[in-house]
Parts: sequence; C-alpha cells; structure tokens
Amino acid sequence: MIVVTGGAGFIGANFVLSWLAQSDEAVLNYDKLTYAGNLNNLASLRDDARHIFVQGDINDGDKLAALLAEHRPRAILHFAAESHVDRSIHGPAAFVTTNVNGTFSLLEAARNYWQTLSAIEKTEFRFLHVSTDEVYGSLSATDPAFCETTPYAPNSPYSATKAASDHLVRAYHHTYGLPVLTTNCSNNYGPYHFPEKLIPLIITNARAGKDLPVYGDGQQIRDWLYVTDHCAAIRRVLEEGKPGETYNVGGWNEQTNLSVVHTLCDLLDELQPKHSGSYRNQIKHITDRPGHDKRYAIDARKIEKELGWKPAETFATGLRKTVEWYLANDTWVSQVQSGDYMKWVDLQYNSKEQA
Ligand code: NAD
Ligand code: TYD
Repeated sequence: MIVVTGGAGFIGANFVLSWLAQSDEAVLNYDKLTYAGNLNNLASLRDDARHIFVQGDINDGDKLAALLAEHRPRAILHFAAESHVDRSIHGPAAFVTTNVNGTFSLLEAARNYWQTLSAIEKTEFRFLHVSTDEVYGSLSATDPAFCETTPYAPNSPYSATKAASDHLVRAYHHTYGLPVLTTNCSNNYGPYHFPEKLIPLIITNARAGKDLPVYGDGQQIRDWLYVTDHCAAIRRVLEEGKPGETYNVGGWNEQTNLSVVHTLCDLLDELQPKHSGSYRNQIKHITDRPGHDKRYAIDARKIEKELGWKPAETFATGLRKTVEWYLANDTWVSQVQSGDYMKWVDLQYNSKEQA
C-alpha cells in the first residue's frame, strides 16, 4: 500500500480518487482535517475498503511510527501542508509548524521505518515530497522559466516554509540515503479546489453576485495546470523518478490574473448567463498582496524528456471542466462555505481598499 498525507485537501483528494480509479493498491490517507481538509471530497470512497482514512497531525511522530509499522507501505506521498499565501501573510506560525516541523517529523518517522525494511524493500521504498514552484521566487517578464537548477528565492512565509521542507527532504537523501523524490509544481486548478484560491473564489463569488477581487492591476502571471495532470505527473515520478532528483511540473500555460478572471466570466456568461449584463461587471481591483510575486513559469522539459509526462488538458478544456464541476456541485460549495470560511473572507477582503 501507499501512504498519502493531506489526502483530504484539494490535490491530495484528487490524487487519491485518481489513484484508486486506476489501481487496486490501497491508500492510507493521513490528514489532520484542518479548514482545508474535507472528507466530502472523498465521499465516493466511503464504502471502499481500499481507502483507509486516519485523522492525524504530521507532527505526531508516535502516531506516524505506529501506522507505518502496522501498514508497512512501499511509499509515502507527502501532500499535507498549509497552502494559502494570503493566510501565511496573516498567520505564518501555522506554516512553520506544519510545513517545516511537520515535514521534519514525517521524515524522521519515514527514516526510522525505512531502516527496519529488508535490503530489497529499502531500495524500492520512496518518499515523494509534493512541493511548489513558488520556492524559486518571482520572475521578470523576460526571465527564462524556472528549471530544476534555478536557485531558491522564496518570498512569502508559505514559499519559505515549503523551501525549508524541500531542503530537509534533500538532506535526508544526501545524509541518510532515504530514497526521496521532490516535485515542484505550478498553480493547480480543478474540482474540489477550496474557494479561498483565485479560480474557485471567482467562480463562487460570481455566482453569488459578489465582487470579483483582483489584487492590484491583475497583471501578475501564473502557470496554470489542471489538477489531474499534476496527479498523473506524481504517479510517473513515483514509478520512474530517480531517487534524489527533483522534477518541475507545469502547464506551459502562463496567464495574467486578469485574463484568468475574464475567461471565467466569459465561461459563466455562456453556461449560466445573468439576467442582464456580464459577470465581468462584478470585477473589482483591490489593494495588492504584500510582496506579491510578479510571475511564475515552469520549464517542464526534464519530466517530459526523462519520464514522458506532459499535460493532457489545455487551459480551455480544463477551465471549462472546472466551471462545469462547480455549477454541478452546489452542495459541496455551500458545505465548505461554513462559518470559518466567512471569517476568512471578512479578514481578507472586507477591509481592503478599491485599487
Ligand atoms: P490544501 O490546503 O487544499 O490541502 C492541504 C491538506 O493537508 C488538507 O487536507 C489539510 O487538512 C491537510 N493538513 C494540513 N496540515 C496538516 C497537518 N499538520 N497534518 C496532517 N494534515 C494536514 O492544499 P493543496 O492545494 O491540496 O496542496 C497540496 C500540496 O501541494 C501542498 O504541499 C502544496 O504546497 C502543494 N502544491 C499546491 C499547489 C496548488 O496550486 N494548490 C501547487 C503546487 C504544489
Ligand atoms: P492563489 O490562487 O492564492 O495562488 P498563489 O498565490 O499561490 O499563486 O492566487 C493566484 C493569483 O491570483 C495570485 O497572483 C494572487 C491573485 N489573487 C487575486 O488577484 N485575488 C484573489 O482574491 C486571490 C485569492 C488571488
């Protein structure tokens, strides 16, 4: 079996669902169920014996040790993290606790477990660390895209804690020989995306008749990848990646934020037209994010050349699927927009100036 941490979150849940759609190898899903963890994402697996859910914190080393000894996985795939840049600006401590201390505690549990394995099991074992392109910092308009050798220059508390976790993972390979793999992926979008992030926030606000908040001039650039393409890349790296290596994963799809918001409005105008006017009329430019990274772009040639992975979805197909999924899943949306979510919206948006 494999262990997945953070498998009740956005990417983790998509990964677990796509894994069990293609394989009968069981998944032990270890997740703390923070505000971002949601078992409704995995509702279709409720009676599926191949999915074992355990609620727990990656900082709980004793619990991790007991689970690894009991279930004896061949791999650990580490998705669990605090993942939202704006939250890391308001409250960085949780990011250090989970992303740095938690990854350390998980690595220790993995190392101790790995040392109990037979020689062949040891060689075959993998610790796959799911990370982000944000560790590389920000690009200017003319810089080449991030490649695996681009120096780390994280700018937000989120990206700094992910960079720290990447370094720990690297060190456990170099020092102890733990067979680790790291993926650094660009911005994901798709089903089950928590509506604090740009794309699901715009879709849900648009439908609720609310403002569509664009930070600053909206000319910042992100490289968007449909989430199931990211999941496929992780599977390829798990099966064929070389221990100790890192792989950049991206969509070859750079878009300004304003262009993403315009495209979403146009899709909604087509799929669920308003009585009068376009959703574009709801766009509101607000105060920019402090330290806002200007541009991310991934050079994904290594994973394509060495492992044969490239994205299956284009932005047009992926974004249409995403909007259709949100239109068809009102219950999921209303369940995640709980009291805690409203507190976040109040903190992050209600005091912001119009830009
Ligand atoms: P998410 O915030 O949607 O989900 C995170 C999950 O981790 C949640 O289920 C949460 O309950 C769980 N979790 C948080 N703290 C935990 C702890 N201490 N112990 C156990 N579980 C805990 O995040 P996501 O967007 O699915 O991202 C998953 C991973 O992918 C993260 O490591 C993130 O850095 C990385 N990543 C995300 C993106 C993106 O665009 N979302 C892009 C590249 C990489
Ligand atoms: P986000 O989805 O938070 O991902 P990240 O910060 O990890 O890239 O944001 C994507 C981009 O959209 C980023 O440049 C910030 C911007 N943004 C807005 O303009 N308005 C918003 O309300 C949000 C949440 C993000």
